[in-house]
Amino acid sequence: MSQSETMPVRVETEGEIGLICLNNPPVNALGAALRQGLSDAIDTLNADPQIRVIAIHGEGRALSAGADIREFGKPPVEPRLPDVLDRIEASDKPVIAVVHGTTLGGGLELALSCHARIGLPGARVGLPEVTLGLLPGAGGTQRLPRLIALDKAIDIISSGRQVPIDEAKELGIVDRIDDATPREAALAGAKAVRDGSLPTRRTAEISVDLDPALIEAATERLRKKRPALAAPIKAVEAVAQIAKPFAEGLKAERALFMELMDSPDRQGLIHAFNAERAVKRIPEAQAEPRKIETAGVIGGGTMGVGIATALLQAGIPVTLIEMAPERAEAAKAAVTRNLDGAVKRGKMTAEGRDKALAALTATTKLESLAPVDLVIEAVFEEMSVKAEIFGKLDRICKAGAVLGTNTSYLDVNAIAEMTSRPQDVIGLHFFSPAHVMRLLEVVVADKTAPEVVATAWALAARMKKVAVRSGVCDGFIGNRILAHYRKAADYMLLDGASFEQIDRALEDFGFAMGPFAVGDLAGLDIGWATRKRKAPDRPPEERYVTIADRICENGWFGRKTGRGYYLYDDPKTRKPNPDAVAIVEAERKAAGVTPREFSDEDITARYMTAMISEAARVVQEGVAQRPVDVDAVFLFGYGFPRHLGGPLNYADRIGPKALIERIEAYASEDAHYWQIPPLLRELADTGRSFADLNKD
Ligand code: 3HC
Repeated sequence: MSQSETMPVRVETEGEIGLICLNNPPVNALGAALRQGLSDAIDTLNADPQIRVIAIHGEGRALSAGADIREFGKPPVEPRLPDVLDRIEASDKPVIAVVHGTTLGGGLELALSCHARIGLPGARVGLPEVTLGLLPGAGGTQRLPRLIALDKAIDIISSGRQVPIDEAKELGIVDRIDDATPREAALAGAKAVRDGSLPTRRTAEISVDLDPALIEAATERLRKKRPALAAPIKAVEAVAQIAKPFAEGLKAERALFMELMDSPDRQGLIHAFNAERAVKRIPEAQAEPRKIETAGVIGGGTMGVGIATALLQAGIPVTLIEMAPERAEAAKAAVTRNLDGAVKRGKMTAEGRDKALAALTATTKLESLAPVDLVIEAVFEEMSVKAEIFGKLDRICKAGAVLGTNTSYLDVNAIAEMTSRPQDVIGLHFFSPAHVMRLLEVVVADKTAPEVVATAWALAARMKKVAVRSGVCDGFIGNRILAHYRKAADYMLLDGASFEQIDRALEDFGFAMGPFAVGDLAGLDIGWATRKRKAPDRPPEERYVTIADRICENGWFGRKTGRGYYLYDDPKTRKPNPDAVAIVEAERKAAGVTPREFSDEDITARYMTAMISEAARVVQEGVAQRPVDVDAVFLFGYGFPRHLGGPLNYADRIGPKALIERIEAYASEDAHYWQIPPLLRELADTGRSFADLNKD
């Protein structure tokens, strides 16, 4: 490879045209070397008397995915992106940009600073900075509203959504669409500038009117919709700076950008972005995945139906097994409803749905699974039932078929031992609704073959899910940690906080729903069954709160029965169930508890400390490979607030020493429950963080 091929910016000339090619794989991120190269290239071509027009295009996946995220949080390196873009815009010679692939953030800002833009078919553009806790900091908030209608600019900037290129053309973000390679389009565009058929202008010089009502309405809407997030509101504030002269507006945008850059939310959101990618790094990554062309799903309950839907949406034909013909039919109808819902939400086309439905067979015959490449068992959570099924699958399935279980708690090693091929058995733990939730917890048993693990990752990629590797233990990563911190909520309830206060405090903290409301939604009978199963192993010194059991004994399982902790007569409101409140009071009395007050801060501190404690144990025991795997499980499967980055990323905000102090204080009330995880102690002693462990 010649040196010029490895340079992040390449310059070539063709007659009067100067071409600048960005070449910084994988996504042409605008790191320091690329910024310098771009700045130098503009200077060189401006100084070259032969050159009349300059065209910028990109090599690889996109013109550019924006600023280099890896530079965030580090000291800035010159030249700064806004300065480079100002230089491009100020160029005496017209500069155009060719937008291809997913051109985002600083990548789009680069294009906006050019004097005309050409899009290629299939391209998408956007300013996703708010999803990273930032706002466009290289002129995006000042240039986009000059090019397109203010309300549309506010929408794109405050939502971070990706805009398909046809819409971008309609809005005026790009001037034309060319079906060509980026380089060809750059050359053709430059020629069009020369012959006058592609007009050019400086975006900064376009006059713009600020409508304060639009700014106010957007701010109000964002405050209501996402009160915990600062970035979208600040982004709208930045847009409002278009009332100032351009240079002043840019300065104000930069100041707001730097404010957000220093915020912990920015760090949390970028950690969440990186987590989605980090979980792909598994020891089995090099193994060759097995081919999955057909699949079987056993069980037509909510999970089985969701899993079948997800597989069909990924283009994999499914044979769904139920026990009786009418149940098979009901399962098929439920899959149809799911797919109809996907069409309604614009997630798939009507043709796509018809094709998916044609690829679904619902039957009672387990033997029909003989030819499939993958089976996912999603039956009742009972070892004897699963054991019988896996024994049968062992006899029925072809050699090399991957045998997956969707168990959420049970021992995958024991399930694997029910077969003569434990190497083919793996836990594929989906989260409800399985065709919507992104997490796939992959439970690797002692004898699971590396290529079976690799197959799970390939499958997750096809289903657009985030696979996280877990070892075997009761509840794996997510449900094990949940089972632990959920008790902290029950203890606070028994000791005096109301379930309403606990839910509200955690919702204000950032969770979409508090634990009692979640229980009502999921069905209180599920936790009840688990508690009964675990009862024989419960240590005598463990405090046990009976409130949930009493509620369940009345047949109140939450939403599906119309009442649980809350009443659901009117589906839109959430009113406490007075009978549940009475049960809480009676149980407090029976336990001899004098209720005391908890502040909202105390509630979140206890809840989060309990979560972090068990998460630290899960990492120390090697059930999770790294802290980031725990974070991904909670971000993509448990509705953990994305801006807090996951439980162990959030733990670093508090620090191990402060966490230990909290546990020591709580332990004076309950020394069995509140124990200091050795890993937390080790971090405190060595001055390390969970983030450091991710790098090991
Ligand atoms: N900076 C640094 N690395 C980046 C990056 C960026 N902006 N965008 C992606 N990458 C890296 C990924 O981390 C990944 O690295 P890995 O292979 O080591 O895991 C690699 O590029 C490939 O990325 P994906 O696996 O995500 O590839 P896809 O093809 O699936 O997706 C994408 C491509 C849609 C561009 C997606 O990566 C993405 O959304 N990137 C982030 C885009 C973004 O948020 N840009 C705004 C940045 S902030 C900004 O520009 C500030 C400015 O206003 C001043």
